[in-house]
Amino acid sequence: MYREQTLKKFNPALDNILYILHDLQDNNPEHYLAKEDIRACADYLEVPYSYVHSVASFYTMFSLKPRGRYIIRLCDSPPCHLMGSQSLLDYLKKSLDVKVGETTKDKMFTLELTSCLGACGVAPAMMINEEMFGNLTPAAVDAILEKRRKEL
Ligand code: FES
Repeated sequence: MYREQTLKKFNPALDNILYILHDLQDNNPEHYLAKEDIRACADYLEVPYSYVHSVASFYTMFSLKPRGRYIIRLCDSPPCHLMGSQSLLDYLKKSLDVKVGETTKDKMFTLELTSCLGACGVAPAMMINEEMFGNLTPAAVDAILEKRRKEL
């Protein structure tokens, strides 16, 4: 259902492939690009499935496996490393009981790493979905995650 509505928003031009994939991923209830999403995009743009799949595989912002409601993207670039992102990563892995790329059992959180988020001035930084957070500490991370849990 969301696929048709997503595709209708864009002209069927190859220049729109990233916009279309973004929108499909955002609207997929499991926040990833399912085979059906890739197929729908390929059919709409009249290009081979393999072409769309290679684009979706190339960019780290796309996921080809189901993810949680909230996608945590912890910055993994040197300025954030210097400010303690590695210990935050260890903390997140332990408190969520996941490895990088995995989703919590309750399907709430997926933990990912990303390169610089452009927020080096408030390192260490992370994003949760579209929201940016900086000056992170384990206590701040706990408060942020707890707020998300209570939003349900
Ligand atoms: S290095 Fe982490 S936000 Fe820039």
